[in-house]
Amino acid sequence: MTSSDIRKEFLAFFTERGHAIVPSSSLLPDDPSVLLTTAGMQQFKKYYTGEADALKDFGSLSAASCQKSFRTSDIEEVGDESHLTFFEMLGNFSFGGYFKKESIAWAHEFITKVIGVPISYVTIFEGSATVPKDEESRKIWHNLGVTDIREEGMDDVFWGPTGTSGPCGPTTEIYCRNAQGNDIEIWNIVFNQFFCDGSREALMSGDAHLAPLETSGIDTGMGLERLAMISQQTRTIFETDLFSNSVDALPASMDARSKRIVADHARGMCFLISDGVRPSNKERGYILRRLMRRIIVMEHGAGDQRINLVKDIIPLIVGQYHSVYPDLHIDVIFDEWDKEKAKFLKTLKNGLKELEKISVIDDAAAFKLYESYGLPYEIIKEMGGRRAAHLGHAGFQEEFRKHQEISRAGVEKKFGGHGLLLDTGELKASDERELAVVTRLHTATHLLQQALRDVLGGEVKQAGSDITAERARFDFSFHRKVTPDELRSVEERVNEVVAQDLPMRFIEIPLEEAQKTGALFFFHEKYPEKVKVYFAGNTLDEAYSKEFCGGPHVTHTGQIGRVTIIKEEACSAGVRRIRAVVSAPIDGQAV
Ligand code: SER
Repeated sequence: MTSSDIRKEFLAFFTERGHAIVPSSSLLPDDPSVLLTTAGMQQFKKYYTGEADALKDFGSLSAASCQKSFRTSDIEEVGDESHLTFFEMLGNFSFGGYFKKESIAWAHEFITKVIGVPISYVTIFEGSATVPKDEESRKIWHNLGVTDIREEGMDDVFWGPTGTSGPCGPTTEIYCRNAQGNDIEIWNIVFNQFFCDGSREALMSGDAHLAPLETSGIDTGMGLERLAMISQQTRTIFETDLFSNSVDALPASMDARSKRIVADHARGMCFLISDGVRPSNKERGYILRRLMRRIIVMEHGAGDQRINLVKDIIPLIVGQYHSVYPDLHIDVIFDEWDKEKAKFLKTLKNGLKELEKISVIDDAAAFKLYESYGLPYEIIKEMGGRRAAHLGHAGFQEEFRKHQEISRAGVEKKFGGHGLLLDTGELKASDERELAVVTRLHTATHLLQQALRDVLGGEVKQAGSDITAERARFDFSFHRKVTPDELRSVEERVNEVVAQDLPMRFIEIPLEEAQKTGALFFFHEKYPEKVKVYFAGNTLDEAYSKEFCGGPHVTHTGQIGRVTIIKEEACSAGVRRIRAVVSAPIDGQAV
């Protein structure tokens, strides 16, 4: 069946069974607790909680839809055979109407009769401390002739809540075989029975509670792309009719993974823009920007003269979806694409200028371009042309690793040479006075990192740091500008810890043990077998900050003096840079 037949058949099947067909809602949800629409049930949340009345709004207690959805959780996986950002979700819903028996029987009928493929197996909920095992679903499946019924737990077959609270409940899932002989999950039937007063994370950690829902009901979701893959018996999602046009239009010189990324991201971009998202450094805008910039890098890496290749596939995407989603406007998409591309290429320009000056771009030179100008490997390879003929990804990675080892090898004192008393790559001091200041600033950056995490969340991770007697520069991953209020809170927290005059100590322990302490460390770095964990506090357990580090540090946080953040700015995509100074030090010398 073509994907457009599947969409039509699904909605017709449920119309015949008394469902009102409700159009897809926007990718920008009404629900402020989520950034984007990730499931069909989102627009129906209020019918389960009793805030709205389905009979009044749809003339029925049952609805069905084909919902535009977008999930960022799998974004790094896109490029393999089945992960996507944007997708369409087919779903049928009951708000206090039918329940398990009908929903399972209809799903069985739709898959085996309408789509005409066998069900490999199904899963049911095995039960937990708070929710009993789903015996009822087992019986229903059994009576339908399904024999392979597997039991799973909370992690796999308990859905929701979406966002910070909402309806949730146990599920039963249907698996079918694809052309590669793998069983993939295609339909998720949720029995919405509970209201959870916290997020899913809170529920899993025991910090949220379940109460019976006002209106229990059914929420099902089936990815159209996966179903098309089963129906059309293709080996990957990208060979279904939903993607084959786009993928085939990309140049043959492009590798399969890049083609998939471009096809997925271009489609996601078209839908996000059409629902009103604009590229920016914030929230949804940042997600869109990420998609667009990744496509731009892929275009460069394609080793092809057609550097505007995504423009060729946008019309195919819009043409394919326009009759189902008339909001897709090609002019707006082109306009946003051109603007973002021009902006991104401008930031790359300096790096490209530097690249032009180099006659042979080897691994080390490429790494330097990456490090100093943020030029991605793909662009260096592409733009370097023959001069980068010997540049390879493995060698580039090796440079990356070597560099990290050098810059983090620990304290290396250098007398003579370039005249520095201390040079760890990160800390530099030329005399004893500078060494004292740099040491205070160094401890301050540990407190800063923790305070940033307290205020902005766990997304913050050190991305680099450079400390001289004048100031500390600290780079960290974070997707948007930090507001002045947030910076003030960060500063306040750091200075509170300074005022507490906590001891700053270290323990030296085996790497594996150190990782278990919860101490922060640079990711992907190669550490020795034994590492030092510095902590600010009386014991490691109650420490305010803990980090893998070579030192040096002050012995008490009070020695740092007052910490002031003097600047916050973007450093590179997704990385912020702050500068901080310390004043009123113990020796009375202002910095
Ligand atoms: N809400 C469930 C899901 O997203 C079923 O629709 O899988």
